[in-house]
Amino acid sequence: MAQVEALNLTKIYTIGDEEIMAVNNVSLSIQKGDFISIVGHSGSGKTTLLSMIGGILRPTSGRVLFEGVDICSLDDDSLSDLRNQKFGFIFQAATLLPTLTAKENVLLPVAFGGWRDTVDTKIEERAVELLKLIGLEEKIDAYPSQLSGGQQRRVAIARALINEPQLILADEPTGDLDEETEAEIIGLFHKINRQWGTTFIIVTHSLDIARQCKKVYRMKQGTLKEEITEYTA
Ligand SMILES: Nc1ncnc2c1ncn2[C@@H]1O[C@H](COP(=O)(O)OP(=O)(O)OP(=O)(O)O)[C@@H](O)[C@H]1O
Ligand SMILES: [Mg+2]
Repeated sequence: MAQVEALNLTKIYTIGDEEIMAVNNVSLSIQKGDFISIVGHSGSGKTTLLSMIGGILRPTSGRVLFEGVDICSLDDDSLSDLRNQKFGFIFQAATLLPTLTAKENVLLPVAFGGWRDTVDTKIEERAVELLKLIGLEEKIDAYPSQLSGGQQRRVAIARALINEPQLILADEPTGDLDEETEAEIIGLFHKINRQWGTTFIIVTHSLDIARQCKKVYRMKQGTLKEEITEYTA
């Protein structure tokens, strides 16, 4: 069984009298451990598609199955539990909470899971481990305003990993980073993919990243097509 099955997904946004067909009848099958990217021009529907797959946005029509469960049929509470436990999101803007330290930001999804008051040292250790893994051991207690853009992005990546998600949905995770940091972050994604079998869906404008994926899909005006790649690693 595919881990994620998107079936005839369509999203139409309505603004006043105008209807925008952002995603048009897209079907996509993703296996556990896949490492895929979605490329395409600005406005082609990449973020809309990713948001529907991640259960952040309800489709106008079509379905998303995660491990065989139709996520669109879940009520809001069950859907947010599923997102919190199984999915990790990395958005282009790092969206850290300014009043929390790097470590506290990494621990945020755990706190959302209802753990807030009973500090679990194991989870705290895991947050520190993750911050070390991404090279921020010296910034564990720093606040976002004391971090560079790339460092904030890395904290957001650690945050996406804290609950050991099965699926990472990344929307231009290296959007405004320099090439070196981009390569580091993609290297980290590959490492996590290999070590834990975590599935990655990465929306990107970077052909460098796309080249390192097992599969590349291109969005064009709301439709999706698989492209042939020469990735062999
Ligand atoms: N909330 C919204 N309300 C109305 N229209 C929207 C909304 N979000 C996106 N759109 C429109 O839907 C289309 C697809 O947008 P989307 O954000 O999915 O594109 P994208 O491929 O992610 O673009 P980019 O590369 O610039 O991030 C665009 O025409 C956009 O203007
Ligand atoms: Mg987008």
